Amino acid sequence: MSDADAQKRAAGVAAAALVEDGMVVGLGTGSTAAWFVKALGARRLRITCVATSTATADLAISLGMTLGELGETRPIDLTVDGADEIGPGLSLIKGGGGALLREKLVWEASRRSVVIADAAKVVTTLGKFALPIEVTAFGHKTVQNRICDVLAEFDIGVAPRLRIKDGAPVRTDGGNLIYDAACGRIEEPAALAFALKSVTGVVEHGLFLDLADQALIGGPAGVTTLEP
Ligand code: 5RP
Repeated sequence: MSDADAQKRAAGVAAAALVEDGMVVGLGTGSTAAWFVKALGARRLRITCVATSTATADLAISLGMTLGELGETRPIDLTVDGADEIGPGLSLIKGGGGALLREKLVWEASRRSVVIADAAKVVTTLGKFALPIEVTAFGHKTVQNRICDVLAEFDIGVAPRLRIKDGAPVRTDGGNLIYDAACGRIEEPAALAFALKSVTGVVEHGLFLDLADQALIGGPAGVTTLEP
């Protein structure tokens, strides 16, 4: 196992210890969240889980965990999820795994959200990781042009690239497409988040701001806790 994977696992295991019997728990998506789900499943608690992707739902079901639908369970007590970058104030870039829309819906419905990651994800300025932007398939090239205009207003001179896998555009669980914007540095994440959401055809973007209550970061010397 690589050092990064060991750090992801340590963070996932630490987060699983936060869960108590009877809770409703949001399950994130990605390799770090998968460590959390496995560690949580092994605890055999009486909990109901809300998954943020079909991949995570499949994993949880394979572990015998009980799943509920968002909005049809009691309020979510705790959501645990990974991130692609963790910046100042626990501002995040998410969506590298393509689950950003469902993740944001679940995070926003949660009383508490904890982000888990390996140490390399912590940055001083967001933007080195290309920002995922989920868009409608219909008219997506027009939406791309409008996103370019928005980025230019923030002095970000890149054209977002359509996410392709195995020669075909990636479709999200909701059937949408993803553009990745290699911003470099995002100096004004809140203003950019607002501007992107104002583009018709943008379904969601990967800036998660003021949503994480705590971060558990796996590092060479163990797991450390960050607060906003
Ligand atoms: C999925 C996500 C993931 O949490 C993010 O991509 C981190 O993934 P990993 O834990 O595999 O590094 O946002 O949409």
